[in-house]
Amino acid sequence: MSHTWRVLLALILTLTTAAACGSEDESVPEVEIFSWWADGGEKAGLDALVDEFTERCPGERFVNGAVAGGAGVNAKQELTSRIQRKDPPDTFQVHAGAELLDHIDAGQVRDLTTEYDTWGLRDALPAGLVDDLTVNGKIYSVPVNVHRANVVWANTEVLAAAGITRTPKTVDEFRADLATLRKAGVEAPLALGRDWTQLMLLESVLISELGPDGFDGLFTGATAWDGAGVRAALREYAGLLDYSNRDRDTRDWPQAEQLLIDGTAAYQVMGDWEAADLTADTYSWFTFPGNGTVFQWLADSFVLATGAPNPEGTDCWLRTVGSVEGQRAFNARKGSIPARTDVPGKGFTAYQKAAMKDWRTATPVPSCAHGSACPQAWQNVINTALSGFSADGDLTALQNSLATAAGRFVRKP
Ligand code: GAL
Repeated sequence: MSHTWRVLLALILTLTTAAACGSEDESVPEVEIFSWWADGGEKAGLDALVDEFTERCPGERFVNGAVAGGAGVNAKQELTSRIQRKDPPDTFQVHAGAELLDHIDAGQVRDLTTEYDTWGLRDALPAGLVDDLTVNGKIYSVPVNVHRANVVWANTEVLAAAGITRTPKTVDEFRADLATLRKAGVEAPLALGRDWTQLMLLESVLISELGPDGFDGLFTGATAWDGAGVRAALREYAGLLDYSNRDRDTRDWPQAEQLLIDGTAAYQVMGDWEAADLTADTYSWFTFPGNGTVFQWLADSFVLATGAPNPEGTDCWLRTVGSVEGQRAFNARKGSIPARTDVPGKGFTAYQKAAMKDWRTATPVPSCAHGSACPQAWQNVINTALSGFSADGDLTALQNSLATAAGRFVRKP
């Protein structure tokens, strides 16, 4: 091809690309929304919220800063380095509770107290949740949902083939069902993924063993991590791990979920973002055996980042996140329930309606794996200890690491 032709071709390409992007008017200010909702039901939820934002904030343009990886494993690292190099997104996803506190302490998020009052959010959200978002009388983030962590998802076809018809009520019954499944040829009936998903399983077992108050005490210093209760829970946990897939450390939650969908496994302990994916009637769910009426909660929220390039646009995003319509659209696709208490139940699934009812009546406990109970640094240490245990099975080493971590990170009131 001659030089002239090459130049012409490059020109045509540039013009065509510009025309294709023309629908996204470059002169409209952008709002970068940073999350880890990059695929599946998580992305579907984000897309629905963005549609709402586009409608309510016509002068602003959504820019997707999502970084894939369950529970934000990669996004959180990327966010830290962006903040360090003074290149924050306008707004980012953060769990309510201890994790949000990390960002408040570091001055990385702006006070939204005035906005809360203007938007009437204090009355629309449960008082307990508002407390978890408040530090020294100021509020720093807008929650979009409440997720439940302590749920077991089941493939009913696999259960039926093994003759299992009951819902296990205790960890012992659960282990007995796992044994029945293995005898029936399902070698690894409990689908499990990497570190943080193992922490979710461990937390559920700890709730059963210690009860809600004992479990809460693990994060306030009232319950000893080196005590007999935790030891007993760790033994139970190890017993369940025996029934999981050996390649667990290599799988994120959707790849573990795939084992359930394929029928290679019968159960998965996972938060109710799974409800967005398991829509067929061949799945059922139940609260983790022995958890009684405990609702282990976590909430995704959005902040105004310190140094946000477009604070006005972010304001419109946050107002959308906190709105009835935004929460309805988002949660209907995400599997979670609205954080607001005044969103009508119409349009939600049977699972979600049950979760809404439970959220009103059940005993709430926070989640360490999803930051309502533990700051990030604590999670990191526990996750490393669990990966170590997954490889070497050394129960004493695991308990020692957990106890040492608690000694470093418990924040006494
Ligand atoms: C949680 C988050 C949920 C869901 C899940 C799996 O930490 O709160 O919204 O995204 O991770 O990635």
